Amino acid sequence: MSNIIEIRNLEKIYGMGRNALRVLNGIDLDIGQGEVVSIVGASGAGKSTLLHCIGCLDTFQRGSLSINGRELSGFNVEELSGFRNRTMGFIFQANNLLPEFTALENVMIPLLIRRMNKKRAKVEALKVIERFDLSDRLDHKPAEMSGGECQRIAVARAIVGKPALILADEPTGSLDSKNSEILIDILFDLGRENNSTIVIVSHDPLIAAKTKRTVHIADGKIVDKKEAVEVL
Ligand SMILES: Nc1ncnc2c1ncn2[C@@H]1O[C@H](COP(=O)(O)OP(=O)(O)O)[C@@H](O)[C@H]1O
Ligand SMILES: [Mg+2]
Repeated sequence: MSNIIEIRNLEKIYGMGRNALRVLNGIDLDIGQGEVVSIVGASGAGKSTLLHCIGCLDTFQRGSLSINGRELSGFNVEELSGFRNRTMGFIFQANNLLPEFTALENVMIPLLIRRMNKKRAKVEALKVIERFDLSDRLDHKPAEMSGGECQRIAVARAIVGKPALILADEPTGSLDSKNSEILIDILFDLGRENNSTIVIVSHDPLIAAKTKRTVHIADGKIVDKKEAVEVL
C-alpha cells in the first residue's frame, strides 16, 4: 500500500514574538491509500490545525507535507486550489453549504469547478444524493432542511468527485447519535467503494471505534494511546 499522506516534522506556529503559539510541534505521520483513520485528542490539541494543513486550508512554518506523492510547499495558491479540488473533499463541523443554492446545486459545485459538463455533473450528484436518501430534497435550500439533512448534503458534496482523500473535522459534532451513525456509515461505505482515504477528527468514541486506526494527538504531537489517556 503506498502512502497518500507523508508528513515529516511538521511545525505550525500561530502569532509572532512573545505571542507565538506552537500548535503543531513536530508531527510525523504516514497514511496509506484507502486507509480510514480517526484523529482524537483533547480540545486545543491541534487536530483541526493538522487537518487544515493537510487540506491546504492553512500553511505551516517547518517540515514537509506530501499528498499523493506531491510535496505541497512548492505550490502557489492557484496550484493548491486546483490540487485540492481534484484530490480532496473537506467536511466541516458546520456544513458550510452555500445558502443561496439548492441541495442539488451545492453537490454539483465541485464537479462544475472541475469543468465537468452540467448534465453529467447533475447525474453524478443525483446518484450520491440518492445514497444519502435525500432525493426528495433536491430543490431545497440549506435553510429549508434539518441540520442532519444539511450535513448529509455537505458530505455528498465532499464525496461526489470521488476524491482520493476525504478530510472530515468533527463532521457529526452538531448531530444527534442517530443522525451521526447514518452519516458515518454512508460516508465510510462510499469511501470504501471509491478506495478513498478518510481522515476523520472526532470526539465521538463510536466513530473512532469504526476506524481501523486511531491517531492520538496531545499538545501538537502524536502520542501513543497510553500517553494520550494520561494527558486527558
Ligand atoms: N487562527 C488562530 N490563531 C491563533 N491561535 C489559534 C488559531 N487557531 C487555533 N489556535 C490555537 O491553536 C490550538 C489548537 O487549535 P485546534 O487545532 O483548533 O485544536 P483542536 O481542533 O484539537 O481542538 C488552540 O490552542 C487554539 O487556541
Ligand atoms: Mg478542532
